[in-house]
Amino acid sequence: MKALILVGGFGTRLRPLTLSVPKPLVDFANKPMILHQIEALKAIGVTEVVLAINYQPEVMMSFLKDFESKLGIKITCSRETEPLGTAGPLALARDKLIDESGDPFFVLNSDVICEYPLEQMIQFHKAHGGEASIMVTKVDEPSKYGVVVMEEATGKVENFVEKPKIFVGNKINAGIYLLNPSVLDRIQLRPTSIEKEVFPKIAAEQKLFAMVLPGFWMDIGQPRDYITGLRLYLDALRKNTSSKLSSGSHILGNVLVHETAVIGEGCLIGPDVAIGPGCVVEAGVRLSRCTVMRGARIKKHACISSSIIGWHCTVGQWARVENMTILGEDVHVCDEIYSNGGVVPLTRKSSPAF
Ligand code: GDD
Ligand code: MG
Repeated sequence: MKALILVGGFGTRLRPLTLSVPKPLVDFANKPMILHQIEALKAIGVTEVVLAINYQPEVMMSFLKDFESKLGIKITCSRETEPLGTAGPLALARDKLIDESGDPFFVLNSDVICEYPLEQMIQFHKAHGGEASIMVTKVDEPSKYGVVVMEEATGKVENFVEKPKIFVGNKINAGIYLLNPSVLDRIQLRPTSIEKEVFPKIAAEQKLFAMVLPGFWMDIGQPRDYITGLRLYLDALRKNTSSKLSSGSHILGNVLVHETAVIGEGCLIGPDVAIGPGCVVEAGVRLSRCTVMRGARIKKHACISSSIIGWHCTVGQWARVENMTILGEDVHVCDEIYSNGGVVPLTRKSSPAF
């Protein structure tokens, strides 16, 4: 079975992290977003993942080379010379997706995080016998997503409206599809949107079915949603494999600490924190609802909440970083600085950000 991951967007909403790497390589819960997906695909027997890409393919491929052999899955690249949207890349990768088996293939948006119930989706797809399956989930604010109106009993999609201006419903496209090869016959090789041009037509022919996704879901392509997504992810980890979470008197709620990270005396960490490989958290630090990425150093008595600290940053002693502050790679925050929100791109070591 094959899968295609749409990795093309510029990830502008996750800057400055995406100034260093393409969005799918931004760490989430201590590993690049895309690895969560590739591992889930491998687990249900996908043998080849095609990355549909139009931006920095070299960075992506050189990073994933190691994982090809580690995970035992073929990873190839389908490169666009101009952005082809969310459907055009499928037409471009047509030859890679179709094989003699005639099996359906998965398509994933690269920025969605959940428990990937892909095996259940295969069963659902087989049972309804239509042409395409999509995963849907309920959200409070549907207007920034693709909204799906469906027949509750069968899952048959009656209407698909991308980013509706008026309320249509609260079940939204979760960005995970299982498509029969025949869907490719509906897509031309040009910039085109699967949400606006392909799904509404399949729905009109009553061949599009939606499965309500069990468990949590989040599009983590924006800082606020990224932080909410981490909370949901850690909650799920608590239910499924709680042994991966840290424990101890300095830990509050769900906290994921990489085995190579070092935590000093008298810290209070949590809830909803991820601390990446090689991080150093010095004595007396307070961390809550935040991500600290690989190689970062948080100096004594600093306090960080609701923020993302990029790779190899330093946060000075007694500094306070909060309220959706996003530090890009290698940002250096001086001692005693207070950052109340804001986005800080890469700075040179000789000239700290604050
Ligand atoms: N290869 C390629 N080329 N990929 C692209 C391109 C392109 O030109 N444009 C976007 N993508 C990729 C993005 O990298 C992302 O993985 C996916 O397509 C969806 O693009 P987003 O920019 O993240 O779209 P969105 O979040 O506004 O909306 C989409 O996702 C929602 C769920 O998170 C839609 O599919 C909505 O219907 C859906 O509800
Ligand atoms: Mg998105």
